[in-house]
Amino acid sequence: MPTLLVNASQVVTVAGPSRARRGHEMRTMEVLTGAAVAFGDGIILGVGPQDELLKRYAGAETIDCGGGVLTPGLVDSHTHGIFGKPRHEEQELRASGVGYMEIAKRGGGIHGSVRDLRTRSEDQLFALAVPRLQRLAAHGTTTIEVKSGYGLSVEDELKSLRVIQRLAAELPMRIVPTFLGAHEIPLEYRAAPRTRDEYIALIINEMLPAVAAGSLARFADIFCEPGVYTLDESRRILTASRAAGLGIKLHADELEPSGAAELAAELGATSADHLAAVSDVGIRALAESGTVATLLPGTMLFLGRPKQAPARALIEAGAAIALATDFNPGTSPTVNFPLMLTLAVSQLGLSVAESVTAATVNGAAALGLANESGQIAPRFSADIALFDIGDIRELPYWYGDNRCLRSWCRGIACHGGDGDGTFPSPSAGHPL
Ligand code: NIG
Ligand code: FE
Repeated sequence: MPTLLVNASQVVTVAGPSRARRGHEMRTMEVLTGAAVAFGDGIILGVGPQDELLKRYAGAETIDCGGGVLTPGLVDSHTHGIFGKPRHEEQELRASGVGYMEIAKRGGGIHGSVRDLRTRSEDQLFALAVPRLQRLAAHGTTTIEVKSGYGLSVEDELKSLRVIQRLAAELPMRIVPTFLGAHEIPLEYRAAPRTRDEYIALIINEMLPAVAAGSLARFADIFCEPGVYTLDESRRILTASRAAGLGIKLHADELEPSGAAELAAELGATSADHLAAVSDVGIRALAESGTVATLLPGTMLFLGRPKQAPARALIEAGAAIALATDFNPGTSPTVNFPLMLTLAVSQLGLSVAESVTAATVNGAAALGLANESGQIAPRFSADIALFDIGDIRELPYWYGDNRCLRSWCRGIACHGGDGDGTFPSPSAGHPL
């Protein structure tokens, strides 16, 4: 039986082409008033004047939105959701002047999470991830990309990807798995007798074939950054990843400009992510490519770095921008996607329409899902969020607050309402 969402003050459809919106195309998001949304069998059936839909779907179950705002479910295209313990001690260390890369050089940072994850079983990692992903979903997110990358051995990377596979099977939100074996060079490959080249060979010759054989990831990603993976190493690993049948993504120009954005464009990566330090040449390269520029303003906020990504320059050049949380234990331990919209408007200089487009249609494009999710339009997946606001401009405005009342992914409750029975409240605590 169809379901009808009625009495919303606005329905923000973001309807339009099923591809990333570029440059000035990001300025418009369709906002309907007096409209209802019908969905059934996981698919949006119709969006339009409430009176008409009530007639057309007479007998449908109706859900009263109570004057809230409906949007496409938010698409978080960049998270590192599989990890063990939090790394709160690093926040204070950075405050005392020790930089992110210096912490990594001392064997902390990503290495700390790797040491921890390797001690944990699949069941333990699953139990830790469930409430974390529930918290992400509780803020209006219905599609979540989740990366491996804290294993850095064949066994521990595959373990992480199997946890993601199980989350995708058991949780109501859409989960897109990404293999990030190239998140760092593990410490045991940094000193004789082992070499970094041996670790890269392990990724290419053992990890990638196993990931592909098990259909354990849709994308491969790499931390291409001075002090981590070089441009040449990134090219080798990403080329092999593509040959193994995976889409490709890069952590690009996060802290220093190194030509990573240019490499992403040259290789036809689905997305280049971070870009806080992208050069003018990198901006032009992205604008002329099909690669989505994914900006992660929570990371720069949390690291206390003064310079956010040049979002306006990217948009003016004609690039497609997506927003994401970068949810991870080191640089962005936030589950609050609407807060990223606040940062987008208040720090990156985006309009509300550009921010919402970046968090929906363009997030979906950054995951190769633009013809399936990110719009409230007929034939799209019924991925919808209901917020306790009267105008979409309030979504970035009430910053830090969680206004998400309910959400649905493929028509199934992800958060709130009838989801409550199967989907524990996000304040239920976690097993750490
Ligand atoms: O996106 N830059 C690399 N990866 C993560 C941080 C990972 C960590 O510090 O644990 C990021 O910022
Ligand atoms: Fe990241």
